[in-house]
Amino acid sequence: MKKPLQNMPESALRLVTVFAVFIVGTIVVVKFVIPPRFKDTKIQWADTVKTEVAKPVRYAGAVACTECHDEIVAEKKRGYHRDLSCETCHGPAMAHTEDPDNIKPSAPRDRKFCPVCHTFNPSRPRGFPMINPVAHNPMQACFTCHNPHDPKPPTVPRECSACHGEIARTLSVSHHVQLKCTTCHDVPSRHRVSPRVVKPTKPSSRDFCGKCHGQESPYKGSPKIDLATHGEKYVCWQCHYPHLPEAE
Ligand code: HEC
Ligand code: HEC
Ligand code: HEC
Ligand code: HEC
Ligand code: HEC
Ligand code: HEC
Ligand code: HEC
Ligand code: HEC
Repeated sequence: MKKPLQNMPESALRLVTVFAVFIVGTIVVVKFVIPPRFKDTKIQWADTVKTEVAKPVRYAGAVACTECHDEIVAEKKRGYHRDLSCETCHGPAMAHTEDPDNIKPSAPRDRKFCPVCHTFNPSRPRGFPMINPVAHNPMQACFTCHNPHDPKPPTVPRECSACHGEIARTLSVSHHVQLKCTTCHDVPSRHRVSPRVVKPTKPSSRDFCGKCHGQESPYKGSPKIDLATHGEKYVCWQCHYPHLPEAE
């Protein structure tokens, strides 16, 4: 009777040998060659703790700033940014607290910074203050209008003359001096905030000026013209600058 191994074709025998050597080799390597540090999770945990403890502490924590910047801390506490830690914006500041004169944290003055939280994004909670950074007062750093430690919408100019000084001065020496800007322009209140996005109306037809200057107009004190013939088909401000109308 032949032994089972002798029955096997030679190629299969080679395969079995290679396989056996591989398994024995693996056991030897795992058991005797790989050092225990690579296998034992207890040792690994202990090592990790050691490495982490050895790292320098970079964040000082929210309380640390009070010691020297108590006014800013108090200011921030009553504002909308009360829940942000100082180091959220100023970065890790442990080194600064230990040597404040030589190590200064950076301040995020760049326009790109604030939109990280304030760019319009429909997944943010409703009512969260959001803006479109492209349209919201472009070209100007956010902190020039909003105090980062107590952000509020800044007060907006009440008077048109704050921004349209030249037109206001021109109008004030013209025949139209007693007319308000809003007699001729409908001005949404948001124009004063985002003037380039929300625009007032401008008169668009001859009939608009005709309300006061047409022959049938009940308006007192304004010179009258014949709307049908005067100036033909042209709009009035092709000949009369509305902020300084002249009849010569
Ligand atoms: C031991 C006192 C001390 C502590 C604690 C301290 N600071 Fe300061 N900090 C200073 C001094 C002093 C200055 C320099 C003031 C100056 O130049 O007018 C300064 C300046 C700053 C500046 C302005 C840097 C600049 O370029 O103008 C920032 C921002 C700042 N600190 C943030 C922090 C933050 C955030 C913390 C808390 C993690 C903190 N500081 C904790 C003392 C301290
Ligand atoms: C929302 C981001 C933000 C937070 C939160 C914040 N800061 Fe600031 N901080 C700024 C910006 C932006 C400036 C630069 C303002 C400027 O140049 O007028 C600044 C400027 C400063 C300055 C230097 C100018 C100054 O006003 O004296 C100090 C000091 C300072 N921050 C400390 C703090 C401390 C302390 C806290 C926490 C209580 C804090 N900041 C929280 C954004 C922030
Ligand atoms: C880490 C996120 C974060 C960053 C960065 C941040 N903010 Fe805010 N901001 C908030 C939160 C939170 C509120 C409060 C929202 C609320 O109360 O509903 C807020 C509120 C505001 C408000 C609204 C105040 C109001 O009256 O409604 C303004 C304005 C504002 N932040 C401006 C800024 C400016 C300017 C910067 C950059 C210097 C900045 N924020 C950076 C989170 C952030
Ligand atoms: C020229 C001044 C100016 C600049 C620069 C400016 N803002 Fe404003 N911001 C305003 C005014 C005025 C309002 C209030 C009216 C409004 O809602 O548009 C406001 C409102 C906001 C609000 C509250 C919106 C709401 O729905 O409650 C946030 C948030 C805000 N700004 C963030 C920013 C950020 C972030 C930047 C920089 C990328 C910035 N602002 C630059 C003037 C400014
Ligand atoms: C905060 C500054 C500011 C205030 C306040 C302001 N405006 Fe303007 N207004 C502007 C700017 C900037 C433009 C130019 C917009 C552009 O050309 O894109 C403008 C444009 C206009 C235009 C032309 C719109 C167009 O389609 O060409 C009219 C009209 C106007 N403003 C009327 C007024 C009146 C009336 C008031 C007062 C009730 C007023 N504005 C207050 C800044 C302001
Ligand atoms: C009698 C009506 C009238 C009054 C009052 C008036 N405007 Fe106008 N305004 C016009 C007309 C009409 C135009 C359009 C002119 C054009 O399209 O060429 C205009 C255009 C403008 C423009 C666009 C830029 C320009 O010069 O064409 C601005 C800005 C403006 N007005 C601001 C003002 C302000 C600010 C006041 C008040 C100080 C004011 N207007 C008062 C009729 C008026
Ligand atoms: C709300 C009424 C009113 C509206 C609207 C109005 N005006 Fe007038 N306008 C007057 C009054 C009042 C005077 C005369 C003031 C004075 O000299 O006593 C006048 C005077 C004039 C004069 C004469 C100037 C001179 O040298 O005698 C011209 C031209 C004129 N307006 C053009 C216009 C044009 C163009 C428009 C349309 C853009 C317009 N007005 C809209 C009330 C109005
Ligand atoms: C083609 C240019 C032109 C156009 C367009 C024009 N005007 Fe005139 N307007 C004049 C001239 C020139 C005068 C002065 C001579 C005159 O009285 O005919 C004048 C005079 C006036 C006067 C003064 C009349 C007086 O009796 O003192 C008023 C008011 C007037 N225009 C309003 C208007 C109104 C309103 C419109 C639009 C419906 C308009 N104009 C369109 C050229 C024009």
